[in-house]
Amino acid sequence: MTVLSRYVELHPTSRSLSQRANAVFPDGVTHDMRQNSPFSLYAARAAGSRKWDVDGNEIVDYVMGHGSLLLGHNHPDVMAAVEAQARLGTHFGASHELEIRWGELVQQIVPSAERLRFTSSGTEATMMALRLARAHTGREKIVRLREHFHGWNDSVTGQPDAEQTIPESPGLPRGILDASIVIPQNDIAALERTLREDSAVIAAMILEPTGAHWGTEPIDFDYVRRARELTAELGIVLIFDEVITGFRVAPGGAQQAYGITPDMTTMAKIVSGGLPGGCVAGRADILDQISMREGDGRERIAHPGTYNANPLSAAAGSTCLAIIADGSHQERAATTAAAIGRGMNAAFRDESVAGCVFGVSSMLHIALGLDVQPPDGYSWGWRSLPKPAPHIDRAASQALRLGMINEGVDLMGGGLMVSSAHTDADVALTIEAFRRTLRAMKDERLLP
Ligand SMILES: Cc1ncc(COP(=O)(O)O)c(C=O)c1O
Repeated sequence: MTVLSRYVELHPTSRSLSQRANAVFPDGVTHDMRQNSPFSLYAARAAGSRKWDVDGNEIVDYVMGHGSLLLGHNHPDVMAAVEAQARLGTHFGASHELEIRWGELVQQIVPSAERLRFTSSGTEATMMALRLARAHTGREKIVRLREHFHGWNDSVTGQPDAEQTIPESPGLPRGILDASIVIPQNDIAALERTLREDSAVIAAMILEPTGAHWGTEPIDFDYVRRARELTAELGIVLIFDEVITGFRVAPGGAQQAYGITPDMTTMAKIVSGGLPGGCVAGRADILDQISMREGDGRERIAHPGTYNANPLSAAAGSTCLAIIADGSHQERAATTAAAIGRGMNAAFRDESVAGCVFGVSSMLHIALGLDVQPPDGYSWGWRSLPKPAPHIDRAASQALRLGMINEGVDLMGGGLMVSSAHTDADVALTIEAFRRTLRAMKDERLLP
């Protein structure tokens, strides 16, 4: 039986639901990442480190709410806070005390957060951060790093290349694409040249602080440090997009782990404890452009948003942040991730398959075909990969994903988001599932 035929056999209800969904949603899904060929998995419920699909299969979950569930599914304190708040009201159309508590926790935990505003998503947070930076500097251009992801707002979509200027996304006004300069990460010379040559027009530099796609392409610490020095010297606003890394890499995010404080930070996911929410935070003089002004002749930046700091997200977020502030959950999740990474790397070796699993903190990435392994079996230690990961065809990555689901493990794309709820039993199951999937892929000659 092939990986594909076993997937089809194990998931008949998912298959029929996805056929229904195909008539409603493009590709039958509501988030690109949930799309799976030949059909997506439909979940019915979740608890701790596990979720159950509509066919009754129990699955160790490494999607973890797209990275929002550092505490695992349904942490009892978070659930109790949300239930209690739901009884009091889901939307007051007014300020409420819980949003202050939530904001105070962000301020206390995140080094750059002198002031902040809550949003409904990470996409909204990066949109607002860039607008604030443009208004603050009076400049228009944004420097982004190739393949770094910041949500789907216009300013951060498409990859206009510094040399070739090739947009990759239709539907964007030319002017917006022209307002981005995209350079490769880890090339300090290109960074220095771009920032110095165009400093008169560059408002901000935004980056994922552990590298493109939550560290799938790891970034060099020295590069980030140089970016901080240059942006400070040239009056460019440095924005760390910590939508994924915030509260995960350390309580105060990658900025705390690095000891590098950006001017602004965007957050989402863990900040709101698994409910919808985001946050833009940073220097008071930049954030205060949102304040109402009277008579000083300067325009303000408006910030409405029906669901900003909604009471349910405030309840989940403030409870979650209070629990994770001491760093013990991040440490536990990272220790578990290291054990999984080492075990998966051993499976690569034992099965004589070229490949490497690597990670930072509790985020792991699987690089099929990359024939080097991290010195400690897990991490490159804030360094870029020693050589580029080879391009893997879609069939192989798809087979890996489906094969792991067949074995009871749901990956986040080509990686794993580990939570503090994952157990030793999950570690053992995951490594064995990986070993069996590699064997199944070898049998089908699906490996690079
Ligand atoms: C680094 C980064 N920035 C921004 C976003 C967008 O956040 P959201 O999906 O909440 O709009 C994401 C989403 O995964 C992200 O990973």
